[in-house]
Amino acid sequence: MLFKLTDEQLMIQSMVREFARKVVAPTAAERDRSKEFPADNLKKMGELGLLGMMVPPEYDGEGADTVSYVLALAEIAGACASTAVVMSVHNSIVCESLLRFGSEDLKKRYLKRLARGRIIGAFALTEPQAGSDPVSQTTTAVRDGDHYVLNGTKRFTTTGRNSGLVIVTAKTDESQRHKGISAFVVEKGLPGFTVGREEDKMGLRASDTTDLIFEDCRVPAKNLLGAEGLGFKIAMTGLDGGRIGIAAQSIGVAQAALDAAVKYAKERDQFGQKIAKFQGLRWMVADMATELEAARQMTLAAAARKDRGEKVSLEASMAKLFASEMVNRLTAKAIQIHGGYGFTKDYPVERYYRDARVFTIYEGTSEIQRVVISNHIFKDKRAV
Ligand code: CAA
Repeated sequence: MLFKLTDEQLMIQSMVREFARKVVAPTAAERDRSKEFPADNLKKMGELGLLGMMVPPEYDGEGADTVSYVLALAEIAGACASTAVVMSVHNSIVCESLLRFGSEDLKKRYLKRLARGRIIGAFALTEPQAGSDPVSQTTTAVRDGDHYVLNGTKRFTTTGRNSGLVIVTAKTDESQRHKGISAFVVEKGLPGFTVGREEDKMGLRASDTTDLIFEDCRVPAKNLLGAEGLGFKIAMTGLDGGRIGIAAQSIGVAQAALDAAVKYAKERDQFGQKIAKFQGLRWMVADMATELEAARQMTLAAAARKDRGEKVSLEASMAKLFASEMVNRLTAKAIQIHGGYGFTKDYPVERYYRDARVFTIYEGTSEIQRVVISNHIFKDKRAV
């Protein structure tokens, strides 16, 4: 491996790998069938520090670096991608946004509970008519004394039902574009805040994806994150980290698919020999392993850059674009290597294929990543 990991990073990777294989993986196929939220796994992950990985110890987190987080998230994703997406949104977007933009009061009230895994966080930016273009959102937040009154509907919220707290964006000034959007920390159970319909998805079936409905929901003004008008910046900064998380998930699922394909190829006999002996198949595996390694290097490099405190929008988008497209190609090939069996639920590769499909869509489609990347290149005139 080109990227040299420290002893501590290797230790975290090995600890999470063991946990993922022993605890998370054995029940993943059943969870995919039943759509049961992985509450037990998440409770254990909270105890292991996996739900506050980059939160400093003063707020009850692990104080780990982003590289360690990427390694951990990839291990969880290889075992169960549904569990991994909950971990990803919780750590990358919710905890990180609170840490970066939250007042001391917000951090004390919420970040500690999130970091210990007592509550799971969600992030609500998307709306029925505002997906790739979040500036066109129509949810409003109107100041009324020491509260904001929220009205509107959010869509495709990961952990919408099973979260205890949601970072919600809403327009506080209709006359401004992105500068009229603010972000609020909204607890579940507030009057006027309900969970709407739950999506029936092709993959990530044990992770709930829901509408969130706000009808005259009064949110305390002290729950405004950052300041009025900062919501779009908070969302975009959160998504920079989130996109590194999706790249990590892609690596985890791709590694699991590659491992399954290699195992199957070594066991399956056709034409009087193991199919692993056929050059056509060996070259397919060589391409899969090479693409996976390239994605891993890009993702770890983006994570390391973030750890150095440098801006990562470009690198996060590149890693997310490449890794999510890679895992879609790779899981399709893993099914091909399994032949007819790959199309059945007797083998895990069909689940990997279904789970990976959304990776090129959520937290910014591949097309949006190309917008971000090309904007950087033309604006900065950077040679890449
Ligand atoms: N960090 C900080 N600030 C940023 C930023 C970043 N990464 N990207 C943009 N900004 C700032 C810009 O600097 C600019 O600020 P100023 O006016 O002060 O200079 C402002 O935001 C507007 O920037 P743009 O003009 O580039 O904004 P835009 O409206 O053209 O949109 C976009 C840019 C890249 C298309 C953006 O809208 C985008 O990323 N869209 C995709 C949204 C997305 O990923 N949604 C997924 C939601 S989460 C999800 O999937 C569900 C889940 O739970 C997992």
